[in-house]
Amino acid sequence: MTRKMLAVVLGATRGQGGSVVNALLKTGQYSIRGVTHDANTPEARRLQERGVEVVAADLDDPSSLDAAFASAHVIFAVTTMYDGDVEREVAQGKKVADSAAAVDMLQHFIWSTLPSASAISDGKIPVPHMDGKAQVDEYILNALPALAQKTTFYWGGFYAENVTYPPYAPNCLSSAGNYVWVQPVASDTLVPMVGDHNVNTGIFIRAILEKAHLCLPRGYVLGVADWVVHGDMLEAWATILSEKNGETMDVVYVHSDVETVGQIWPGTGRELGQMLKLSEKLGRDAWTKKDTTALTMQDLGLEVGDRDGKLGKGFEYVQMLR
Ligand SMILES: NC(=O)c1ccc[n+]([C@@H]2O[C@H](COP(=O)([O-])OP(=O)(O)OC[C@H]3O[C@@H](n4cnc5c(N)ncnc54)[C@H](OP(=O)(O)O)[C@@H]3O)[C@@H](O)[C@H]2O)c1
Repeated sequence: MTRKMLAVVLGATRGQGGSVVNALLKTGQYSIRGVTHDANTPEARRLQERGVEVVAADLDDPSSLDAAFASAHVIFAVTTMYDGDVEREVAQGKKVADSAAAVDMLQHFIWSTLPSASAISDGKIPVPHMDGKAQVDEYILNALPALAQKTTFYWGGFYAENVTYPPYAPNCLSSAGNYVWVQPVASDTLVPMVGDHNVNTGIFIRAILEKAHLCLPRGYVLGVADWVVHGDMLEAWATILSEKNGETMDVVYVHSDVETVGQIWPGTGRELGQMLKLSEKLGRDAWTKKDTTALTMQDLGLEVGDRDGKLGKGFEYVQMLR
């Protein structure tokens, strides 16, 4: 009997990591070790019941990462934004990379990252959480050349689920009886969407592993299932919720600016605003890197369709509100 490869998945209890666990379990080719803060939570126990080895580790603690990565053939790594504490996220990304570099049998390291907004916009539109992740890319490429040979950089597109997050969700304007979406960009801004990241991330990562010959060494993959016109997202939201609630919901797209959005929702609102501004200014070029051609879903042989093994459409999560 062929021995299964060991895939270690960070963030296994939640969005990106959880979807990678689901997609790799379906292949039957991997033993999976899921990493979380606490191996005794209900989420961790649910993973164990599905045959996942769950280990506790902290991205701030290198020795716990070393133990979690022991004997891995594949590592999927994702970090969290920590309310804008970019230095912490960058430090975590570097620690993760250092620990991965020390694993002898490692064949494929997949780093969930984002393009450098500062580099693409010549410093005009910095987006700290994007720039921070991209700093880790450069660390891998320059300081860890042996790991770089085994690395694929995954740019996960905008989550459809974002439309449910408080700084981004439409708000009821009770005096007018309608919903307003206060946004820092024009409604025709094109947004790169992964769709339902709880499913689609895993589909992309599984394809990266299946098409490793295209993605290694040092390949970039654009995790985008759909380029969506920003205003259409609001229309879709309204149509779906109108049907669900049995009454028409009127919506108004309010084209504001980053400053105002940042005043209403300090922190995440401003950060998201800058990210959208990058897309407004640069369109599809916003998600690029100089001298690099990122592989697309088509390059990986993926298509949009119903859920079984294919990518759901950009709005799939919103449609789940039905
Ligand atoms: N929103 C978007 O449109 C978008 C698009 C592309 C990329 N992203 C990026 O996606 C990332 C978040 O991914 P996600 O949505 O999958 O995250 P998530 O749903 O918030 O889950 C975070 C996961 O990371 C684990 N984690 C957090 N801090 C940890 C630590 N110190 N040590 C060990 N594990 C830790 C958590 O484990 P526990 O269960 O133990 O807490 C959880 O499993 C962010 O960096 C964000 O910038 C977002």
